[in-house]
Amino acid sequence: MEYVIEMNHITKVFGNFKALDDVTLCVGKGEIHALLGENGAGKSTLMSILFGLYQAESGEIKINGKPAKINNPNDANNLSIGMVHQHFKLVHNFTVLESIVLGRETVKGGFLKMEEARKRIMDLSNHYRLKIDPDAYISDITVGMQQRVEILKMLYCNNDILIFDEPTAVLTPQEIEELMKIMKNLVDEGKSIIFISHKLNEIKAVANRCTVLRKGKFIGTIDVETATKEEMSEMMVGRKINFHLDKPELKTGEVTLEVKNLTVVSRSSHKNIVNDVSFQVRKGEIVCIAGIDGNGQSELVYGITGLIPIQSGKVTLNGKDITKESIRKKCMDGLAHIPEDRHKHGLVLDYNLQENIVLQTYFEPRFQNKGMIRFNAVREYARKLIDQYDIRSGQGEDSIVRDMSGGNQQKVIIARELDRNPDIVIAVQPTRGLDIGATEYIHKQLINQRDKGKAVLLVSLELDEVMEVSDRILVIYEGEIVADLDPKTVSVQELGLYMSGSKRSIQHEKEA
Ligand SMILES: Nc1ncnc2c1ncn2[C@@H]1O[C@H](COP(=O)(O)OP(=O)(O)OP(=O)(O)O)[C@@H](O)[C@H]1O
Ligand SMILES: [Mg+2]
Repeated sequence: MEYVIEMNHITKVFGNFKALDDVTLCVGKGEIHALLGENGAGKSTLMSILFGLYQAESGEIKINGKPAKINNPNDANNLSIGMVHQHFKLVHNFTVLESIVLGRETVKGGFLKMEEARKRIMDLSNHYRLKIDPDAYISDITVGMQQRVEILKMLYCNNDILIFDEPTAVLTPQEIEELMKIMKNLVDEGKSIIFISHKLNEIKAVANRCTVLRKGKFIGTIDVETATKEEMSEMMVGRKINFHLDKPELKTGEVTLEVKNLTVVSRSSHKNIVNDVSFQVRKGEIVCIAGIDGNGQSELVYGITGLIPIQSGKVTLNGKDITKESIRKKCMDGLAHIPEDRHKHGLVLDYNLQENIVLQTYFEPRFQNKGMIRFNAVREYARKLIDQYDIRSGQGEDSIVRDMSGGNQQKVIIARELDRNPDIVIAVQPTRGLDIGATEYIHKQLINQRDKGKAVLLVSLELDEVMEVSDRILVIYEGEIVADLDPKTVSVQELGLYMSGSKRSIQHEKEA
């Protein structure tokens, strides 16, 4: 096989932590090569070395058979290597268009020639069906669109070697289908792709070969076609994974969370993005809000948790009206939130792990004495959660959260929210970016909450997750709840009909 990339014996150390230990990766020309490994296995680090963001301590890189020294991303670009990062590196107060041309501006007589760039970008956007709004600000668009912007940015540079670091983690099932097609088109056009994903179905669907890493070590490279999902996951975690979830019988109690006639108006379109929504979540049940991305589920959660103002409606928790309470008060009243955008709403990235663990509890007597933080107590508590939730990072409780792997950042939030022993957990895409083992663990934790008699409101775009974890499915379409379904009796196809608006079983009260 002719290799476009050879990374041989790569070792990378952070402080006294070995993130990569003698790793080898060889990518053939015109292939889609998957990179698989648990959260923190070193996938992004390996790609950052290839892209010139980090330097390896030892090892060599060859591009098209020639030894290459990649000192920075410009060197990578010159070698025709492009990368879509796991956590986007977009400038928030730039528009979509500005973000894509950044670094590749066409200039004439000292002035930016944006019109040419706009045309090329819109052509690419149409050609690859990556829908964007060129004039929207990055700060206002969904993570799905940010992802498309990153992909377009890479295509705009016309690179031959494309690195996709978990592109599907933030996309909807429909968008994932599209992306798979795009990737296949790109290799047909002669490009080579490295594709990182935790979803074995996706790897099965597009990749030719797959390299597996475990805890910074190279485990092997396999042919995807002949390998089974079980084999791949066993290589990855070193044990067998149970793909089936055990769920004891449902025992519901009183109403924990009640949402009544909630309406949220969109800041940009001034339409009701959440329109007169009412539902209840009882003790001991997991209610899932299912829907295609952008149908108001994010705003519904923001409205309940207090992240954006609501137009009208009422939210009660254990019979108490919490609609107008502060976020801290809501937390203290028993509301926990695992947010959709973990960087924006879930973590303070430049704080360390232990500081992030006590963000909502640092003022409690167990962590504070006469206005002084009890650092030892915080440290001890963080260590307990790190152990319990298997949070992996280089420096334990002192790790700066920004430097942690994506999946482990997510585990920090989950540990913090669940350990507060809340009455209701609102979990939005809680397993986004988590490896198979961690996903299994989180699902068990949510089911555990339910079995303890707590309420769970799950918002998920992943149908497998919706079907497997929930006790009841509320389908949201264009800001309205259109169906209340039992996952035991509804089929995925039927669910799809409700989600796409072709069917509805709950009429809008005001119309009925
Ligand atoms: N700049 C850094 N400083 C210190 N430690 C780091 C840094 N970057 C990465 N690490 C550590 O290296 C390890 C590998 O991280 P990496 O981001 O490569 O994992 P990953 O395989 O991409 O995981 P995920 O699937 O969660 O994205 C992690 O334990 C992480 O904490
Ligand atoms: Mg990563």
